[in-house]
Amino acid sequence: MPDKPTVILTDFINDDLGPEREVLDGVAEVVALDAHGEDELVGRVDDADALMVFHNLSLGRATIERLTRCKLIVRCGVGVDNIDHAFARSRGIDVANVPDYGTEDVADSAIGGLLALSRGINLYNSTLRDARQDCDWMYTLAASLQRLRGQTLGIVGLGRIGSATALRAKALGMDVAFYDPYKPDGYDKALGVRRVESLDDLLAQSFALSLHCPLTDETTQMIDAAAIECMPRGSFLINTSRGQVVDTSAVPAALASGRLAGAFIDVLPTEPPTDDDPLIVAWRDPSHVAHHRLIVNPHAAFYSEQGLLDMRVKGAQACHRAITGQRVRNVVN
Ligand SMILES: NC(=O)c1ccc[n+]([C@@H]2O[C@H](COP(=O)([O-])OP(=O)(O)OC[C@H]3O[C@@H](n4cnc5c(N)ncnc54)[C@H](O)[C@@H]3O)[C@@H](O)[C@H]2O)c1
Repeated sequence: MPDKPTVILTDFINDDLGPEREVLDGVAEVVALDAHGEDELVGRVDDADALMVFHNLSLGRATIERLTRCKLIVRCGVGVDNIDHAFARSRGIDVANVPDYGTEDVADSAIGGLLALSRGINLYNSTLRDARQDCDWMYTLAASLQRLRGQTLGIVGLGRIGSATALRAKALGMDVAFYDPYKPDGYDKALGVRRVESLDDLLAQSFALSLHCPLTDETTQMIDAAAIECMPRGSFLINTSRGQVVDTSAVPAALASGRLAGAFIDVLPTEPPTDDDPLIVAWRDPSHVAHHRLIVNPHAAFYSEQGLLDMRVKGAQACHRAITGQRVRNVVN
């Protein structure tokens, strides 16, 4: 058994571990494995006192079963769908997340996507770059655009990011409605937004729909072809939550039919996507409307230098608390 407690970063980080070492100075040794799959952890994490897990791998039963002295697994991020947290609980191991490192950044990206689509910014840029001499250099290229003020932004999941997105949309003069069956009453009053009782109701009134729910059995493929068909003609879809919440194969057809006037997809069911993913095929095809009306990002809405540092420092602080016997915050299991 090692003398000093050990904190192991399983993946994603492969630098000098300055932020973690500063927080855990005198408390624990810090080691980074930079693994890209759970199989690379075999024999390398069993004695850890705490694990910091990012997003390049999943932590399942087989690994958790081998942990002999682990007090805490921190998911350095929000979504805990890549950790078998129920099984960790059955072994007496806390799983915590770092819920707030990117709240503002993701909300900024969601609103950035909404503005880029609804103001025609992406469409103008993309169309003109491809068209060269033979097209009109005119505002009409993106006609007809609707003023944002007074339009309804539908938010699915009024948690931290959903709330931050709602506040930004309100500053733009939008009417904000949300669907979130698990949110207690009162937050609508505090934020000045409208609760809608069903997803179908929200879909029917959303000029733009922004997804901010976690990935669960209930939310998997929640937005499929039928759901998109319930949205007003010419509406916008924004997904910065998890790729599997949307059946992305339905998006090209919805753009082609004009049901959707644009979509911003930051997260995909498989990341990175395969070259034959129907969404990617349409987006890369200059003859498909998705080429100009779809924005795809590489699961980057969380990213800012400040957010990355927060993620690491707050993850290390949670390990510090666990190892020194203090109460750990943000336990999810
Ligand atoms: N794109 C990125 O880079 C990025 C970064 C951080 C988080 N995320 C995703 O954003 C999601 C939201 O993050 P958050 O910090 O706001 O989480 P949060 O837990 O604060 O909020 C999630 C909200 O969704 C609600 N919800 C749960 N099930 C629902 C359902 N079936 N229908 C409607 N609402 C439902 C919950 O009640 C909660 O209010 C995360 O789960 C994560 O998957 C993405």
